Amino acid sequence: EEKKEFRQKLVTWFQENQRDLPWRNHLSNPDIDQRAYAVWVSEIMLQQTQVATVIEYYKRWMKKWPTLQDLAKASLEEVNQMWSGLGYYSRGRRLLEGAQKVVKEFGGKMPRTAESLLKHLPGVGRYTAGAIASIAYGQATGIVDGNVIRVLCRMRIIGANSTSQPVQNKLWSLADEIVDPDHPADFNQGMMELGATVCTPKSPGCISCPVQNLCLARAMVDQSKHRNGNKL
Ligand code: ADE
Repeated sequence: EEKKEFRQKLVTWFQENQRDLPWRNHLSNPDIDQRAYAVWVSEIMLQQTQVATVIEYYKRWMKKWPTLQDLAKASLEEVNQMWSGLGYYSRGRRLLEGAQKVVKEFGGKMPRTAESLLKHLPGVGRYTAGAIASIAYGQATGIVDGNVIRVLCRMRIIGANSTSQPVQNKLWSLADEIVDPDHPADFNQGMMELGATVCTPKSPGCISCPVQNLCLARAMVDQSKHRNGNKL
């Protein structure tokens, strides 16, 4: 049905059109804990910082501390120095504290579900926990960030304030419903990629959108064109 068509189109589009970003190169690492570490670092950096800026910081970080164990041995001074210019320094400190906790208390094993990531890792909220669980572990859990909110709201024409609690609840349950259980990593990254590169805030590129035929906002634009003799 429609949900399956949406998944199939989005996942195929992502696989064929994704940007070459450094954190994606770590997803082929067979070590699940190091994969989780790589996603964790990238998602924390990406929370309040643009992709273009994060790229070089991410590469430097992973070169200095390629594994969780390497990071756990770092000092806060080194971490702050590495973070210099990124802002919101507590993000770096919590990464360090989290790595030390995983190494000391969990024997180097990252928590294995979104719920336990959320519970045990400092600075990891619902979004980051879901990103690690889906992208590193292949767990079928939905994630909601700014890009995903925009895509979902347009697809379904949710006009209400997306920061209100009822709308947030609706968005998270929608994200959980539509995530592709067979390809959760590509699906969730595809949603973010679509929001970042096609379904942008101003003048979205509907013509190159893989799911334009399933989009209610797109359908309404077409409708108004017909009613107005294409003059809009
Ligand atoms: N923004 C947040 N997470 C991202 C990711 N994994 N790839 C690209 N942009 C992102």
